Amino acid sequence: MHSSIYVPAEDSFLFSKILKEQLPKLLKKNPDLKFLEIGTGSGIHLETAQNCGVKKENIFSSDINKNSVSHCNLLEFNCVHSDLFENINGKFDLIAFNPPYLPKDSREPKDSILATTGGKKGDEIILKFLKEGKKYLNKDGKIFLITSSLARKVDFEKIGYKEKEIGCEKLFYEILCVWELQTI
Ligand SMILES: C[S@@+](CC[C@H](N)C(=O)[O-])C[C@H]1O[C@@H](n2cnc3c(N)ncnc32)[C@H](O)[C@@H]1O
Repeated sequence: MHSSIYVPAEDSFLFSKILKEQLPKLLKKNPDLKFLEIGTGSGIHLETAQNCGVKKENIFSSDINKNSVSHCNLLEFNCVHSDLFENINGKFDLIAFNPPYLPKDSREPKDSILATTGGKKGDEIILKFLKEGKKYLNKDGKIFLITSSLARKVDFEKIGYKEKEIGCEKLFYEILCVWELQTI
């Protein structure tokens, strides 16, 4: 299926802002921080990670959309075609995901469903990501993840994570929050 590359929007800008705030602190503790972004889209956060000082050889990414993968490879980032962690190897200090987080809506154009729709209730891809993600975190590794008030609320503790809210933004029709998650 042909899908467009996600054009950075409010969620992307909130996520970038948080990365710019948090990465310098994390890099101070660990200058060799290994960064993985799942669902990198246009690669906006790969550029941010690099600008914040993450070494280029420590920046890894993936997308289920082959057009995004080709685009990020052209930008000379390490990006693989993968459904969540399917083709990911290794462990990381920070895993970032601005996921498809909206509940299914029949009005959504086919072309953008892959980037926006997280399942019937909106949290299905997030739950799968969190269940698989544990295996890919280094000791003390963290996940940064966006959720929306329009989707079913995720019970992080129930799936083995402690959460800290590190930034929210109220938009016209929803509230977006970025969570820092660590395994319990
Ligand atoms: C909301 S967009 C975010 C794009 C970019 N990270 C940003 O913040 O602008 C979600 C991205 O996740 C990708 N995606 C959706 N399902 C995925 C999956 N199962 N595995 C990997 N990537 C996925 C989409 O193709 C899309 O690029």
